[in-house]
Amino acid sequence: MDANEIRQKFLEFQVKKGHKIIQPAPLVLEGDPTTLFTGSGMQPLLPYLLGKEHPEGKRLTDAQPSMRLQDIEDVGDPRHTTVFEMLGNWSLGDYFKREQIENFFEFLTKVVGLDPSKIYVTCFIGDEKYGIPKDTEAAEIWQEVFKKAGIDAKIAEIGSSENGDKRGIKEGERIFFYDDKENWWSRGGGIDSTPLGDPCGPDSEVFYDFGEDKQDVEKYGLAHPASDGARFMEIGNQVFMQYRRKEDGSFEELAHKNVDFGGGLERIAAAAIGSFDVFKISLMKPIIDKLEEISGKSYDNNTDEMRVIADHIRGAYLLAAQGLAPSNKTQGYAMRRLVRRAILRALDLGISSNFLSEIVPIVAENYKDLPDSILTHREMALNVLLKEENAFRSTLNRGLKELKKAVKQQTKSTSGLGSLAPVVTGLAPSSSAVASGRSREGLVLLSGYDLFKLQDTYGFPLELSVEECYRQNIELTKEYKKEFDEALKEQRERSQTASKGMFKGGLEDHGEQTVKYHTATHLLLAALQKIINPDIIQKGSNTTSERTRFDFNCDHKLTPEEIKAVEDQVNEWIVADLPVVFDEYDKAYAKDVLKAHGQFWDKYPEKLKVYTIGDFENPISREVCGGPHVEHTGVIGHFKIKKEESSAAGIRRIKAILE
Ligand code: ALA
Repeated sequence: MDANEIRQKFLEFQVKKGHKIIQPAPLVLEGDPTTLFTGSGMQPLLPYLLGKEHPEGKRLTDAQPSMRLQDIEDVGDPRHTTVFEMLGNWSLGDYFKREQIENFFEFLTKVVGLDPSKIYVTCFIGDEKYGIPKDTEAAEIWQEVFKKAGIDAKIAEIGSSENGDKRGIKEGERIFFYDDKENWWSRGGGIDSTPLGDPCGPDSEVFYDFGEDKQDVEKYGLAHPASDGARFMEIGNQVFMQYRRKEDGSFEELAHKNVDFGGGLERIAAAAIGSFDVFKISLMKPIIDKLEEISGKSYDNNTDEMRVIADHIRGAYLLAAQGLAPSNKTQGYAMRRLVRRAILRALDLGISSNFLSEIVPIVAENYKDLPDSILTHREMALNVLLKEENAFRSTLNRGLKELKKAVKQQTKSTSGLGSLAPVVTGLAPSSSAVASGRSREGLVLLSGYDLFKLQDTYGFPLELSVEECYRQNIELTKEYKKEFDEALKEQRERSQTASKGMFKGGLEDHGEQTVKYHTATHLLLAALQKIINPDIIQKGSNTTSERTRFDFNCDHKLTPEEIKAVEDQVNEWIVADLPVVFDEYDKAYAKDVLKAHGQFWDKYPEKLKVYTIGDFENPISREVCGGPHVEHTGVIGHFKIKKEESSAAGIRRIKAILE
């Protein structure tokens, strides 16, 4: 059975068991500021898990495309992916542990056809501190279920995963009790980090055994279900939502107990073909085959690179097919990162010209069974991704040229920084003067400060510089990484100190209150772009010490809900106390690489100031602006929109105050 069939059979099976199929949610979940992307099937169902009545009833099922970017660095091993589909079923105050466990076992062994003796399970050991009992109920149900399949399943008390690494599995053991790090489910993780107000509870996880020989004991310790290593792979998680965390931190039993089941489609499909490598399943293999063909290299010798590319392009495609475009903000930035990382890895394989045109159609074909209700922009997806590939390749080519230039300069000068002196005077500590130049062997030697400039000015990423230097036999200073970090840190500190000085110096002219209004205006624009339309630009603005007046393009009068959402967003960013920093850049760099917002690109001088609010890599707002601004958004106060009106045809005007 391939992955598309497993998805289909799962939904059919759940319908037979009385569930209604619901449409999955988009990856970008409207109105949920807690995560960038839908990361599980339960996320869109949160209100119903807390007691709201669902129009489709108490038994629901779906297959939810999910994305977990927190796993991005793990991609490359046999099983981690940033994007995956979660097969889900829910009981909203209806059936509980017995029916869930029996049904999932039936699905795995009778429908998918997995060998019951390859299935291992885990349950929650309990928590004394919070008075949560051990889940013997689930463990006993599992024992019965295994018994019916002719298996005598023994129970083991493992406790912590570390203990399991030392202890391993004893003869006949199949059901294992672990602590909250493994078998407690909340949106925050372990029991202490359960968010207040959230539904949560013990879970029972199901694992597939790929065989003892798969475990690298030296590296990962003895195998047990929750161990790292390739012997066991989690294929499903049944959360018994019995509790809700109260505002005082304790747990109360929910009046309606729910089941929240999530199973990884890709992983179940891997178990179905007996492959501990999920990249061998039908949703992945055609991509890998194509990569082998284009690069002329084998998957066996280039496993990491090919896994990362396959994973990231799947993710980028799903986002594009849902109508998202790459940008420098939040989800759009994450999408850009996926595409860029895939292209960089392709370079490692020697693929240096456009290749998405060959891969994306394969991904699209793999996903043809996903509903149109979420893949609303399938036809546009390829173009969006090709455009991004072209843009990034131009950046890369420019960076490569600069790198070559730098090397030439270094060859000419035997000491000193040459043309690669850090952009900002005073940035490099004097030690860098000896770090750059020629090494004793006579090879060209570049420092971390040089590489910093390449990234800072030309957007040429550090990892690529390093790779290129290696290819061209250019030596790097021993401490290049440290130097790079130092340059980065100093640049940030410098921006902050400068903005502090600016803030103080500007007081006489601007007044403290006007400065706050000024920063609030940047947040307002960012909120309008995020909530109303990413194409909104500033059409005019006037700030006094009593209010801000802001004009922007928009084809409709904002509804009270929209106004409220914009207001809430601005206040959320204020409360988050985000840093505000600025620096001076070349115009082209500010526009094309930093993608700063600007109103008068034609009129701006060649060097200009750019203000960034929030994380520098993933900012909330980035605008060309003379300043001054506050240093931290927390000082702004409470933002309130007083008026929204028409200012001219297609232009709206907002007046807002700080309270
Ligand atoms: N919500 C559960 C999970 O993400 C099923 O594992």
